[in-house]
Amino acid sequence: MVLFSVTKKATTPFDGQKPGTSGLRKKVTVFQQPHYLQNFVQSTFNALPADKVKGATIVVSGDGRYFSKDAVQIITKMAAANGVRRVWVGQNSLMSTPAVSAVIRERIGADGSKATGAFILTASHNPGGPTEDFGIKYNMENGGPAPESVTDKIFSNTTTITEYLIAEDLPDVDISVVGVTTFSGPEGPFDVDVFDSTIDYIKLMKTIFDFESIKKLLASPKFTFCYDALHGVAGTYATRIFVEELGAAESSLLNCVPKEDFGGGHPDPNLTYAKELVDRMGLGKSSNAEPPEFGAAADGDADRNMILGKRFFVTPSDSVAIIAANAVQSIPYFSSGLKGVARSMPTSAALDVVAKNLNLKFFEVPTGWKFFGNLMDAGMCSICGEESFGTGSDHIREKDGIWAVLAWLSILAFKNKDNLGGDKLVTVEDIVRQHWGTYGRHYYTRYDYENVDAGAAKELMANLVSMQSSLSDVNKLIKEIRSDVSDVVAADEFEYKDPVDGSVSKHQGVRYLFGDGSRLVFRLSGTGSVGATIRVYIEQYEKDSSKTGRDSQDALAPLVDVALKLSKMQEYTGRSAPTNPQ
Ligand code: G6P
Ligand code: ZN
Repeated sequence: MVLFSVTKKATTPFDGQKPGTSGLRKKVTVFQQPHYLQNFVQSTFNALPADKVKGATIVVSGDGRYFSKDAVQIITKMAAANGVRRVWVGQNSLMSTPAVSAVIRERIGADGSKATGAFILTASHNPGGPTEDFGIKYNMENGGPAPESVTDKIFSNTTTITEYLIAEDLPDVDISVVGVTTFSGPEGPFDVDVFDSTIDYIKLMKTIFDFESIKKLLASPKFTFCYDALHGVAGTYATRIFVEELGAAESSLLNCVPKEDFGGGHPDPNLTYAKELVDRMGLGKSSNAEPPEFGAAADGDADRNMILGKRFFVTPSDSVAIIAANAVQSIPYFSSGLKGVARSMPTSAALDVVAKNLNLKFFEVPTGWKFFGNLMDAGMCSICGEESFGTGSDHIREKDGIWAVLAWLSILAFKNKDNLGGDKLVTVEDIVRQHWGTYGRHYYTRYDYENVDAGAAKELMANLVSMQSSLSDVNKLIKEIRSDVSDVVAADEFEYKDPVDGSVSKHQGVRYLFGDGSRLVFRLSGTGSVGATIRVYIEQYEKDSSKTGRDSQDALAPLVDVALKLSKMQEYTGRSAPTNPQ
């Protein structure tokens, strides 16, 4: 057995190691500075209770982006030196964010061990490569991201750090080979367990979904399928699940070989960046003559998803509402009913209508997955989603891109179960249109203004807040802009009191709520890296089923007009158009 010793390395703090909502994200070149990663990792160990480090089992893996392999070796050597008993590493350091959550919650090591946390190496949907982004975040024993109390402590430690511990003489472990390697240190044995995380993840998915019925759907010659992993880590799971387990053709996978630089692309599953899929689904400029019936994409670490039908885009807000409306019949995990449903505030109210109709507990939380985690831990929420292409359930404590695809395939399988030999299958578009017919439609769009001067963005938001003191003035102004929108009946800055721990989150976005159920929401992004990003969420509710089939841009035009003029967008930002194409 190889022996290792512990070295104390002197270091000095780096500025700006404050973890954001999803951990610390910086350029690779920043992370490559001597001691930079080490300082953050030691600050994390020092922020955790001693028993979650000494003798503990910790997962280390991520989306496989550039610098991950170096980071895994560094973190492993530091874990050994800090008295960690076992490090669990995904083969080739690959593990999707939802799979990490599943591994923490479900995996039992050969010696009966369970993990108490994880370093996830990802910058999610940000590009990767030597000149792009790297990221690291810590998840806790429930499988969810560290709460603010812990990330604050990590940050505070990074500002005072003077030394870190590392086992410099621990040899690099070959993470391409599955197996356990045991070393011996001053505090006893230390194991590095390299394993294939798809096994644990698939096991979990099989307890949730009826794979046999999805298999039958995929076997139907009338059902065609396409999945784009944008060269992120989802590709590994997609190959195992869609092709090997469910029998989809290999040709239905696009960009499913994980790459350190995501093939030079931007691994974000939306209509702008998932270009190849969008074209294949008949929604792009170079449209395919015979698009597949179903298409989906994931981001770099596979927690986000985009769902498409043939020449048809499903908004993430509709997607979560439709999954919630159909879950009990279509997905075995939910067959005994839903504990509750939740959405983030800027997500459209499509889910609210489903909750009301089905008499479900409903929660509106601020933007950010952590708010759902508390509800789920307390058994109050089964399904949740965000407009930012995140959908998930209480099977783990992260959003889950592959889960969302399996949920949609389950709904399609259920709707077509007596129809697989028929002339025409019930399609994604049919399901969405039927949903609108039953519940009404929330026409929805988001305008993003990226890299705006931070002062100007603040002033714009402050002006929107100050106008809220007189709704009659607001309504007078709106009527001058457009006479064909309904009156604002309430306006506020969204504030959330967590029903589980009582914590209050203030200033979570500015809302204008209209009498007909429409909404305008203005929010500053919490994830932008340069200047400020203003997001405008525009939502028009249409209850009348004869009017739910309109062109979305037409239906939203009056409210868009009101949003831009009411906020004086051009005046404050100098921008005549949003950054994202409409
Ligand atoms: C991350 C979080 C999501 C959140 C999103 C908001 O992706 O994981 O839960 O919805 O950020 O981003 P924004 O830029 O709008 O603050
Ligand atoms: Zn992500």
